[in-house]
Amino acid sequence: MTHDKQEKAGLPRGRFITLEGGEGVGKSTNVSFVVAELEARGIEVVQTREPGGTPRAEAIRELLLSAAEEPLDSDAELLLVFAARAQHLAQRIRPALARGAWVVCDRFTDATFAYQGGGRGLSFERIALLERLVQAELTPDLTLLLDMPLEVAEQRLAARLDRTKTSRDRFEQEQRDFFERVRLAYLARAEQDSWRVATIDADGSLDTVQRRIRLVLDERVQQWT
Ligand code: TMP
Repeated sequence: MTHDKQEKAGLPRGRFITLEGGEGVGKSTNVSFVVAELEARGIEVVQTREPGGTPRAEAIRELLLSAAEEPLDSDAELLLVFAARAQHLAQRIRPALARGAWVVCDRFTDATFAYQGGGRGLSFERIALLERLVQAELTPDLTLLLDMPLEVAEQRLAARLDRTKTSRDRFEQEQRDFFERVRLAYLARAEQDSWRVATIDADGSLDTVQRRIRLVLDERVQQWT
């Protein structure tokens, strides 16, 4: 739905921007960059992430990411992701958008299509059903998909884990073919929804990648403000 229609329908006024991509593509750094870019334009921004973004949703994140002994059933994983999302939308995202703030979210439902759909092989139709149930009309206005070859992403992830002395979470422990399916699912969504999803080549220096992001933001912000 366009922003005008959203306004007329009494739906959110703020803009909803999400960042997506596999592990190690530099999402966290670039989420902060997007927030700083928008704030420099005088926009009120709420920075958040999924799964998580509120205390209860962060508790669900812990269930999803911790590498416990008991296996987590894929359907349970899918429902937990959407349970966290429902809480996040109700407590944080919708209220922020309704008061006119922009929301910049590190991952959202494209990640569910990529990880639970592509990675785990769950049906895209069932995910779309839950998407409608939990989100109704609300979808991101803009999604920046950070993309790079898997080998580069894996090297960067390994370097970060080494630097921060953290161990791999439940998703980071997956094998290469899982991440290949995740990447393909992301790229397929970008192709299907090319107006909303801007694919950013993230294989380059931070400066180069951020210049690419700024170009997209400049164009969109100009259209919206
Ligand atoms: P992060 O490490 O980028 O914060 O993301 C946490 C993990 O959660 C990441 O490995 C991807 C996964 N995830 C899903 O599997 N489905 C989802 O819908 C979301 C939002 C994240």
